[in-house]
Formats: sequence, C-alpha cells, structure tokens
Amino acid sequence: MTALVLDDLRAGYDRDLPIVKGVSFTVTKGEAVCILGPNGAGKSTMIKAVAGLVPCFGGRVQLDGREITGLPSHELVRKGMGFVPQTENIFTRLSILENLQIAAQLLPRQDRARRIEAMLAMFPDLSSRPRELAGALSGGQRQMLAAARALLNEPQVLMLDEPSAGLSPKLVGQVFDTLRRISDTGVTLLLVEQNVRAALGLTDRALVLVDGQLAHDGPTVDLHDGKLLGELFLGHRAAETRA
Ligand SMILES: Nc1ncnc2c1ncn2[C@@H]1O[C@H](COP(=O)(O)OP(=O)(O)OP(=O)(O)O)[C@@H](O)[C@H]1O
Ligand SMILES: [Mg+2]
Repeated sequence: MTALVLDDLRAGYDRDLPIVKGVSFTVTKGEAVCILGPNGAGKSTMIKAVAGLVPCFGGRVQLDGREITGLPSHELVRKGMGFVPQTENIFTRLSILENLQIAAQLLPRQDRARRIEAMLAMFPDLSSRPRELAGALSGGQRQMLAAARALLNEPQVLMLDEPSAGLSPKLVGQVFDTLRRISDTGVTLLLVEQNVRAALGLTDRALVLVDGQLAHDGPTVDLHDGKLLGELFLGHRAAETRA
C-alpha cells in the first residue's frame, strides 16, 4: 500500500526560480526512508512543500491515495501528514504540557486529553515533568517533544528535518531510538538526515537530492562507506550518464 507519492513535484519560493525541479518517488506504508543531499540541494524546501508550507508550482503529491498538492498545512495535519521542522519546532517559553495542548488544538475536543496522555506515556522523559519549561530540555528531549507534538495528531506519514542536527553522538542515539519506536508503531517515516551512519540503522532506503532533482534511490546500506554518496554529491554520476 502506498503512503506518499510525489509526481514531478516542482516547488520553491519564486515561480521563476524553482528549487525542487521535478521530483518523483513513492513511499510504501510503514517504510522508513532517509533523504540525503548537499547543503542547499532543496531537501528542506521539498518536505516543506509536501507539508504545505512552501508553494508547489507543478506536479502532484498524494497522501494515502488522495491528492493533497498545495493544501494548507493545518488541513494536511488533519489528513494525516506530520512534519517536524529543523528549528523552532517547540515553544521554549511554554511548558511541555502546554506545547502538547497547543498541538492538540487541531483534534476534536473529546480526543485531546486522551492523545496527550498517550504521548506522555510514549515519552517517559516528558511525562516525568510535564510542567517544566520546554526551553529547559536537552537537545534530544526537545526533538522528542517536537516529535510528540506531531504524533499527537496520529499522522500516517511523519517527516522530520534533520532531527539529529547539532546533537552529541549520545543524544543522536537517543533520538534515533525514539524514531525506531515511532517506526515500529507503523508510522511511515521520511527523514532528512546528514548523518548516514545514524540513518543506516533506521532506514532501509535512501533518496539523494542534488540541485533539486533526485540523483539516487536505493538501499541506505549502499551509501555507508561514503564513496557513492561523495560521487553523487559532486554530480559525477550525473555527468557520466550524460556523456
Ligand atoms: N525562505 C526562503 N526564501 C528563499 N529562498 C530560500 C528560502 N529557504 C531556502 N531557500 C533557498 O532554497 C535553496 C534550497 O535550500 P534548502 O534549505 O531547501 O536546502 P537543504 O537541502 O535543506 O540544505 P541544508 O542541507 O543546508 O539544510 C537554497 O538556495 C536556499 O538559499
Ligand atoms: Mg535543510
């Protein structure tokens, strides 16, 4: 069963200067996929376009067989799209509980308390001190809270933009353990990640985006030693196929 389809997606900030230049791929339900690519390749822009936060200029996006291209982000959340941006993904001046309560606003009133309880049960680090300011959490715990905010709405697909950025190796391990638990619940994961080694244990499949286009789609393990990735990042492969 298909969870997410991108079909020739074009997106960006200015119609005359597309950043995502015709990207197509399909993600199966329950799959965990990582998206790699050099800085400025358009990874964040692409997942923001899918999440309804950046304009789509052409092509289509389907979630669970339904067309969702260009829908606003709050509507996408209701349809099962979860997105955790790289930065500003929690309210640091509010408590853990308040962060969850705000995320729960999109749920029907009668479901809110139950979903918040479910998230606290899933993340013991958060449930042990619900009144603590989110700004006092460690980097890894902030990522957990950001993920909990997205998961509260029971997404079918959860997209995360570099959840391990700036974290110590120990905290990267914690974040990936959390992502593994999320994946094990059946949620489809799409993960932008620079850390191939960390992504390897979680994702079986890797997409490589170079200059707004898909340069590679294959098993994550093929990218482990860095050789193929280096070639892809430098565009050698693309040059070879053109020659
Ligand atoms: N808000 C914006 N307005 C205009 N251009 C932007 C905006 N955000 C990003 N860009 C441009 O879009 C291009 C792709 O950026 P994007 O952040 O999507 O790349 P990325 O692959 O996520 O890079 P990184 O690995 O550094 O996170 C870059 O040229 C960037 O300057
Ligand atoms: Mg980015």
